[in-house]
Amino acid sequence: MAEEVLRVKDLEVQFKTAEGYLSAVRGISFNLKKGETVCVVGESGCGKSISALSIMGLLPANGRIANGEIWFDGKDLVKLRQDEIQKIRGNDISMIFQEPMTALNPVFTIGFQLCEPLRIHQNLNKTVAAKKAVELLKQVGISEPERRMKQYPHELSGGMRQRVMIAIALACEPKILIADEPTTALDVTIQAQILDLLNELKQKFNTSVIMITHDMGVVAEVADRVIVMYAGEVVEEGDVETIFNDPQHPYTQGLLASVPNVDREQEELTAIPGSMPSLNEKIEGCRFHPRCPFATEKCKLQHPSMTMIGNHKVRCWLKGGQVSDDNINSQRDAL
Ligand SMILES: Nc1ncnc2c1ncn2[C@@H]1O[C@H](COP(=O)(O)OP(=O)(O)OP(=O)(O)O)[C@@H](O)[C@H]1O
Ligand SMILES: [Mg+2]
Repeated sequence: MAEEVLRVKDLEVQFKTAEGYLSAVRGISFNLKKGETVCVVGESGCGKSISALSIMGLLPANGRIANGEIWFDGKDLVKLRQDEIQKIRGNDISMIFQEPMTALNPVFTIGFQLCEPLRIHQNLNKTVAAKKAVELLKQVGISEPERRMKQYPHELSGGMRQRVMIAIALACEPKILIADEPTTALDVTIQAQILDLLNELKQKFNTSVIMITHDMGVVAEVADRVIVMYAGEVVEEGDVETIFNDPQHPYTQGLLASVPNVDREQEELTAIPGSMPSLNEKIEGCRFHPRCPFATEKCKLQHPSMTMIGNHKVRCWLKGGQVSDDNINSQRDAL
């Protein structure tokens, strides 16, 4: 069995708001193996980016990890100092951000931004770093790389900027690549090219990938394993075939029902009536019960924990759910 490269355990992330601390991520656990691609799916606001930013040590200023562990290379990243995590970020673990324009610095050239991680993390001198940067741009399919090195982000197209982001993320050959909606802002043709590119690079470097996406079409294409999140929790986890062929959680079933069949244009997920609760909404029992067509009295009152069904895990009373062994919900509600 492939070696485990990351283990997230009971991660809880809170934000300080006018109403006090509110939990955006409520005790998620998962692991990632070498060379594996895990897709994280779920509606807008369910906590995908916040989970990824926690791993990177890049939570917004009003966010905090209230509980949990993130194990990488024998270290709990939650306990590391900023200078220690900086050595890992961009080197062992890197991230492609949702919006490349906010992640790329508008005042520095592409070349500078590519060379910087190489010089900091790999101690390469200016000439060697520049040579490697040109190589990286070639690898991600950018034409005339020498000329691009001297350009600024605004001089490139959206697809090209995304490729540059990928090149920066891959510069130090990370063990883990986190890609947050890497193709959402792009048109369908470029999307397909970027996904092919990620697959190619993954095979070449045996990188482990956490891919965050709304798009079940993307999941089908790249995932080995799928984590489904709802309102800050993981509600189902399994290998990609099981999730597509035998989804157990009513939410996963709803997500799959909302996948457009003919083409893969981005669509709002309208198949599940209702909307996800906001952070300050208090929900007893299963967090999905207000939208679940199968909810029973028990679902309204008691919070289910993750249960193994065959070879995947589900958080649902109707699927053999168990009482949460933690009383994290009541603790949180007391805050
Ligand atoms: N700085 C912040 N302060 C308060 N709440 C925040 C902050 N950042 C995010 N949140 C809230 O945390 C929750 C999770 O946000 P997150 O960005 O992880 O969602 P997401 O699943 O990535 O959504 P999307 O698919 O739209 O990118 C949301 O309810 C969001 O409003
Ligand atoms: Mg997000």
